[in-house]
Amino acid sequence: MDIDRWRAVDSYITDLLVPSDPVLDAALEANAEAGLPAHDVAPNQGKLLDLLVRIQGARTILEIGTLGGYSTIWLSRALPPTGRLTTLETDHRYAEVARANVAHAGLAHVVELCEGLALDILPELAAEGQGPFDLIFIDADKANNPAYFEWALKLSRRGTLIIADNVVRGGAVVDAASDDPRTQGIRRFFEMVAAEPRVSATALQTVGDKGYDGFAIALVIDDLSPVRPVDREALWIPGPGPQGSNTVSPKPA
Ligand code: SAH
Ligand code: DHB
Ligand code: MG
Repeated sequence: MDIDRWRAVDSYITDLLVPSDPVLDAALEANAEAGLPAHDVAPNQGKLLDLLVRIQGARTILEIGTLGGYSTIWLSRALPPTGRLTTLETDHRYAEVARANVAHAGLAHVVELCEGLALDILPELAAEGQGPFDLIFIDADKANNPAYFEWALKLSRRGTLIIADNVVRGGAVVDAASDDPRTQGIRRFFEMVAAEPRVSATALQTVGDKGYDGFAIALVIDDLSPVRPVDREALWIPGPGPQGSNTVSPKPA
């Protein structure tokens, strides 16, 4: 099996199940125009994020690593009308492109883009009392995944879904002796997840338009910080019940 076949199957799936969308297409075009790296999730992966947001019944999302906001738009669109997404990006130029894409998508009121190093911003979010978030998407510099997982836990509640992108890296994840800090970051991340009794997790390998990679998914199954004041709302695990604009509209005649 080769990348051409993976691409063909991605196209087959996307053509059938992920209808092309002018706003998302425009975001990818704007990213390419601005010379951003094509590190956005693939369309069918964006749709997976959308489904996970809806299954989770998420109302608040934290994204670490915005790039041009392609995944941001997928995640935000799946939120109910009162939902909010906070996304972190260190590159000013990428952040400007993302702001424009998010505004063009009509989501400026939903998305808060925080510019700076994620490891500077995450403690600020915690200090401001932001969170717990319902869903956290980790997709920035992979070397820092261990620290991002720790912050994700701090900003979680029982029921929070933590998703990490690019955890397979063409299979490099099994190279224990790798001197690539990104690979070591992913490996340490997996070890932490495995050793963390407060989460239940798995990971899937993916092939497709973006090559050979994978996602990890961890559900927070136990209460977190004992110093966090008990907040009944924060302990509630949302289900996928009806949620305003998330309900299916009748087909037009
Ligand atoms: N989630 C995006 C892709 C993100 S690519 C999508 O799927 O559409 C990873 C992004 O993380 C890049 O834009 C990069 O600039 C950003 N990044 C890298 N290191 C970072 C850091 N320390 N803090 C915040 N963002 C960082
Ligand atoms: C890279 C980062 C990503 O988030 C991604 O999806 C693909 C590649 C990278 O930094 O190489
Ligand atoms: Mg990624």
